[in-house]
Amino acid sequence: MKNCIEMNILVTGAHGQLGNEMVRVSDKSKDHYVFTDINELDITNRDVLHTFVNKEQIDVIVNCAAYTNVDKAEEDERTANLVNNVAVGYLAEAAKSVGATLIHVSTDYVFSGKNNVPYTEHDITEPIGIYGETKLAGENAIVASGCNYIILRTAWLYSVWGNNFVKMMLKLMKERETLNVVFDQIGTPTYAGDLADAIGWIIDHRMIDQKGIYHFTNEGVCSWYDFAVAIGKLSENMCNIRPVHSHEYSSKVKRPHYSVLDKVRFRETFGYQIPYWMESLEKCINQLKAKKYEI
Ligand SMILES: NC(=O)c1ccc[n+]([C@@H]2O[C@H](COP(=O)([O-])OP(=O)(O)OC[C@H]3O[C@@H](n4cnc5c(N)ncnc54)[C@H](OP(=O)(O)O)[C@@H]3O)[C@@H](O)[C@H]2O)c1
Repeated sequence: MKNCIEMNILVTGAHGQLGNEMVRVSDKSKDHYVFTDINELDITNRDVLHTFVNKEQIDVIVNCAAYTNVDKAEEDERTANLVNNVAVGYLAEAAKSVGATLIHVSTDYVFSGKNNVPYTEHDITEPIGIYGETKLAGENAIVASGCNYIILRTAWLYSVWGNNFVKMMLKLMKERETLNVVFDQIGTPTYAGDLADAIGWIIDHRMIDQKGIYHFTNEGVCSWYDFAVAIGKLSENMCNIRPVHSHEYSSKVKRPHYSVLDKVRFRETFGYQIPYWMESLEKCINQLKAKKYEI
């Protein structure tokens, strides 16, 4: 690994929520970042991937590419598996072949949600849907590859980019007088900007050799209902938000009832202070206001 000299960092899936935030992070970096999405670099194309990583002399791959539509994954397991598992194996192989580190993002959906205390990295994984199964298979492919890796499991990601719970709530709160939101699924909202900052911290501080699986979300705990109420308050929306049980919704997808992730390992290894979820939500909502997003 190069230490103080510039490194070449490849970011895949750069048009997504996390990828866009990595662009901002790269502005402050002394390293050379290369940003790609499916049109420039399809991670399911093994040969193209290997050639790219070799030619660009990549030192670190930050994989932000994924099949993230949890509902659609139930009907299209083949594609979900190709992107979240098979292609992740290709990335790990490519990283190993050039001695690069793979920083990969995984999910709280690798757990069943039956816990009632925060999940640590040592807890047994037991996905309850296709998305979680394919993401777990991707983690396993990385571990089996023998490459140097950092896997960051995160949850409830939102940002000013793309589609997410915050933007959906803001839209619905404008259209409706009352909104029903489930209060029996508990987790931690995570601002994609905070996760990108944390990845930037690991790279900038040359801690990419801290191989392993880590949990990273914002600090704190809430239900989707609490999250929605906070979104309403911070955006000064008058919509009435009602707490309802998840069984009142018919859905093909089973979601974990409890998916709070324990972040002790991340904090202690990287010496990083993680922001509290509500403060980060305020930051995101202020950014949406600044972008003149109608809220
Ligand atoms: N979103 C969440 O709530 C959440 C929660 C926990 C963990 N995560 C994990 O966090 C990571 C980042 O999530 P995100 O919300 O930023 O995802 P996202 O917004 O859906 O971005 C993923 C990006 O990857 C691209 N992509 C898809 N297939 C590709 C391929 N074959 N080659 C290259 N790029 C491809 C997508 O393009 P298209 O849009 O054209 O498909 C998209 O631009 C993912 O690993 C996800 O599993 C997300």
